[in-house]
Amino acid sequence: TIIPVILCGGGGTRLWPRSRADKPKPFLPLVGNSTLFEAAIERASTQYGFAPPLVVTGARHVEHVEAQLGGIDATIVVEPAARNTAAAIALAALRLDPDAIMLVCPSDHHIADGGAFRAAARNAAALAAEGYLVSFGIEAKTPETGFGYLEKGEALAHGGSRVVRFIEKPDRAKAEALVAAATFAWNGGIFAFHVGTFLHELAAHRPAILAAARAADAAGQQQGRQFHPGAAEFDGFTPESVDYAVMENTARAAMVPVDMGWSDIGSWDALHLALERDADGNSVQGRAELVDCRNVMVTSDGPRVSVIGLEDVVIVVDGNEILVTSHAGTQRVGKLDGAVNQ
Ligand code: GDD
Ligand code: MG
Repeated sequence: TIIPVILCGGGGTRLWPRSRADKPKPFLPLVGNSTLFEAAIERASTQYGFAPPLVVTGARHVEHVEAQLGGIDATIVVEPAARNTAAAIALAALRLDPDAIMLVCPSDHHIADGGAFRAAARNAAALAAEGYLVSFGIEAKTPETGFGYLEKGEALAHGGSRVVRFIEKPDRAKAEALVAAATFAWNGGIFAFHVGTFLHELAAHRPAILAAARAADAAGQQQGRQFHPGAAEFDGFTPESVDYAVMENTARAAMVPVDMGWSDIGSWDALHLALERDADGNSVQGRAELVDCRNVMVTSDGPRVSVIGLEDVVIVVDGNEILVTSHAGTQRVGKLDGAVNQ
């Protein structure tokens, strides 16, 4: 069976004012009634044949994780401080059977087609069992600089391909060249690893991260379904994402292509595109009246919002904060004083 490892690190200021430091993006019902975290758990749940999940989260957010898991059978690794994804995945791997297959799932994504996700997960797991470190490859449509890019190589079994180059977060000019080259896919941030192979590659490329993880794991304590790694040992981690630490360096990278209605919901603009829109391209969450509007997004947690004759506007009402911006402006929300000083 495949063991889902759900990463829940919080962060993300571009969805302010809805996403706040104490209740970040994964724990919000951004699309439909489930939160992104709940959806990540459901997508790879035991009802589809997956093993119970292992959640890795920070002490600041474990309350939300506990509440949103409810009675679901799970293990939770609680980090005293965030040390990025290489550390989080290493801590998870050390809790698992070295022969198991882990499916690393971020909790900051929306995936419209769960069936396509699970089909890709089975293919990725089969490739991982052959010793590959497998990414989910998403068709690269625009020159995003916030994603990793996978260069497709030789075809492998299970619909996969080798990844000849993994390029994490290129600058704009490079991203444009990669999208134009058409042999690149976005890294979806979902990975299938054979646990022993992952630890072996981490040892080869970032022995210090593995050593710190082993020390923190050895000093850890089980408390009910929570495992608390040693806090003092966290000073030993140099924070680095798995993309830079392992995926850019390994010779075993592979990918499975997947078309599953994926969005990282990196901004209000991206959320608008993931929501149902009317014939004029407007999306509404909460109470609103739109007259002669086009491509307007309104999301309100309380007050009714009335808009007349506007185009390409995003309006977010949350508690005592109101955000009004153009679609292009949604990329700069994280720089607002309100988002920075929350
Ligand atoms: N537990 C834990 N601890 N989780 C973490 C930590 C940490 O210290 N840091 C990040 N995470 C979680 C985040 O909450 C998210 O669910 C996931 O790990 C990925 O981290 P992000 O910080 O969101 O990464 P990114 O979006 O910049 O880049 C990654 O995802 C892209 C796709 O959305 C990379 O894998 C890119 O290559 C990829 O394209
Ligand atoms: Mg992300």
